[in-house]
Parts: sequence; C-alpha cells; structure tokens
Amino acid sequence: MGLSRRNLLVAGGLTLWLSACSVAGDEAAGDEVGKVEVFSWWAGPGEKEGLEALVADFRQRNPGIEFDNAAVAGGAGTIARTVLATRLENDDPPDSYQAHAGLELDSDIEAGYVEDIRYLYDQQHWRERLPKGLVEALTFDGKIYSVPVNIHRANLLWYNPALLKARGLTPPTSWAQFLTQAAALRTAGILPLSIGPAWTQKHLLECVLLGELGADAYTGLWNGATDWKAAATQQALALFVQVLDQSDIATAAGDWQPALDKVVAGTAAYNVMGDWADAYLRTKGLVFQEGYSVAASPGSEKVYDFLSDSFTLPKGAPRRRAAEQWLIECGSVSGQDAFNPQKGSVPARLDADKSKYTGYLALAIAEWTDSATRVVGSLTHGVVAGTVRSAAVDAALALFVQDRDTMKFAAAAGA
Ligand code: GAL
Repeated sequence: MGLSRRNLLVAGGLTLWLSACSVAGDEAAGDEVGKVEVFSWWAGPGEKEGLEALVADFRQRNPGIEFDNAAVAGGAGTIARTVLATRLENDDPPDSYQAHAGLELDSDIEAGYVEDIRYLYDQQHWRERLPKGLVEALTFDGKIYSVPVNIHRANLLWYNPALLKARGLTPPTSWAQFLTQAAALRTAGILPLSIGPAWTQKHLLECVLLGELGADAYTGLWNGATDWKAAATQQALALFVQVLDQSDIATAAGDWQPALDKVVAGTAAYNVMGDWADAYLRTKGLVFQEGYSVAASPGSEKVYDFLSDSFTLPKGAPRRRAAEQWLIECGSVSGQDAFNPQKGSVPARLDADKSKYTGYLALAIAEWTDSATRVVGSLTHGVVAGTVRSAAVDAALALFVQDRDTMKFAAAAGA
C-alpha cells in the first residue's frame, strides 16, 4: 500500500472528492436469521443515540437478525481499541467492528484480521455513490476492507454564544487572537479553553498545527513533505504549548463530554472538538446558535479536517451473512440518513437526503459539498497516520505536554 497515494488523497480538493456521480437506488434487505455482534465505542451520550438510530433502521430491514451491541465506552475508542486488539489476537472477532477510514486500518490489514469487501462495493455500487477521495482513503493495494457510514469534521471550536456576546467577543480566527482573548477571559475568571484526556490534547494539537501551518504544510507533516524541525513547525508547536497553558489540562479529569459541559455552563469559553459535539449538546436539549455555537478552529476556515467511521468484515466473523447485512445497512442511504442526523455527522453517500440535516448539520453539509472547501485528514481519528506512528505521537505528546521540548517532540513525531 502506498503512503504516497494516501497523501495524494489528503492533499486532494473537494472537487475531486465529490466527482463521483450519484446514482439513485437502494439495497435489498436480507432475510438472514440469527444475530450480529457489532463492536464500536459508541456508548456515550451523543454517540449511542446515533448507533440506536442506525440499529432501528437495520432492524426494520432485517427483522430476523438480532443486534448484539458490543460497544465499549470511551471517547475516540481509546478503551475499545485495546479490548478489540485482544479479541482479534485471540481469534475471537466480533461480526463487524468500527474503524476509521485511512491509515488506521493498516496494521489490521497487515495482520490479516479483515476481509476484502470489494464484492459488496460492486454489488451495492458504493464506489459510484461515495466521494472519490474517500474511496481512495479506504483502498489499500487495490483492496477495500470497510464501508464508511459518515463524515465527521474535527477542526471545530465550540462556544457559548451568550458568554461571548456578554464579553463583546467573536470566535478567534487565529491562535494568536485566541491568546489575546484568553488573557482577558482569565482576568474575568473564565477558563479560556476546556480540555479532556490525552486524545483530546492530540486533537487540539492537530487543530493548532492545521491553523498555524495551513492545509498543505499540515498534510506535509504526515507525508514527509513538511519538516518537523523547520522554524514554522517549531513555532506552531511552541504556540500549542501556549494554548495548552490557557486550558485546564492540570485538573481536567473527564472525557470529552464534561469538557463541553464547561462551555455550556459558561465556566469555560471554548472547546476544540469534532462535530460529534453537536449530537451530544442536542441530547442536553440545547439548540444550535442559542445554547451553543461553533466556528472553524482558529486559522482553519474553509478547511474540512475529515474523518470517517467505517465498519469491517473480520476474517472468521462467526455470522458472516448477518455481518454482510450490517455492512449493507451502514453503506445504505436509509442507514446513513437515520444515523448521521443523530450522530452529528454528514452522510458519506453522495445521494443522501440533504433535507434531513438541520441546525449545525445544514451548515456542515453545505461546507462539505462546497467545491471551494479544502479537505485534509485527521491525525487523531485515523486518516493520516497508521497505528504505529499514531502511538509514537501519543507517547511523545505525553512527554511534550510536560517538558514542552518542541525539538524532542518533533524528532519523535516526525520519525
Ligand atoms: C471518533 C469517532 C467519532 C466519535 C469520537 C468521540 O474517533 O470517529 O465517531 O465517536 O471519536 O468518541
């Protein structure tokens, strides 16, 4: 498989992405009996509602298949991934498991854990119904091992509109501007930025690097074209540390949802998080642009730092035919249009029903389908780095947030 091809993809513009034609049509429901065990990390508020909506549609179309929910809680799959790795090593795969589109699946493919499902792509005409760039992100050596159910955007800054209005602020459009606002917010006793566990710090790092370096140089960090030790990268890393200094990293204890709660409560001004935040905030009864609002993370306007949740067919899946029906559901218009409005994501399919996406999601779908939007891939959520490199970044980041040594971090992350 080629890193270079993957890099081509993340460097690609949306015109290319959306160039596949959309074809109307739907898939036949299966008549299998039995059950399907599906492994994911969608157990928390805002995520489980999405999964439930997808499962409800699946049940309707597959009345004979019982859905066995093997979700393991924990943001970004941090805990689920460990549990899954043990199951796969022990030859105990679920019938299907969640994975991100992109390099994240590299190691599972190399280990022989997942099956090539191109026959389903052929049967369901998915290639023609998905953005070309996404299909490329899912393709390894000409083979495809998972089906995408959505597109999420990572580079977003969530805020409480009433709090900003009361202080005469608008969301910062650069990280330097954020730091200026942060000084004033602190004086007023407001935490400038809430943060959560290590993966949310990595998520923030990717957004700071993107905002400071721009789409091309950010992409270059992952394909080797951008020098981690160059002055611009070093400055961006130093700025990340300054941004972190404006957060509650020293005391933050919860996952991503409690960090967002602080913004809603008005004790923190901002939180950087993917658009699953929209789904979560709606579960709290909040209304977009009233109880919460969002802007591109500073410096990343018109850039879509994307990730895509997808589902696999593990080798040795105990109930293969039921698993295929699940994958067909994930790739279907009706499944995606049931799931995504609840999940805070936009459909991966080009022929989905846009009228189902309102509030934040209406803006997201407009931006995602705008040919002027630039698409880059997420580090934290599996697109631009395989598991080995991503783990190396995790280890280096845990040290970096303590020692703040930008050169040392660059040496480890850029390797
Ligand atoms: C991402 C995943 C999203 C969302 C998020 C927070 O990795 O792609 O669907 O679940 O983690 O848990």
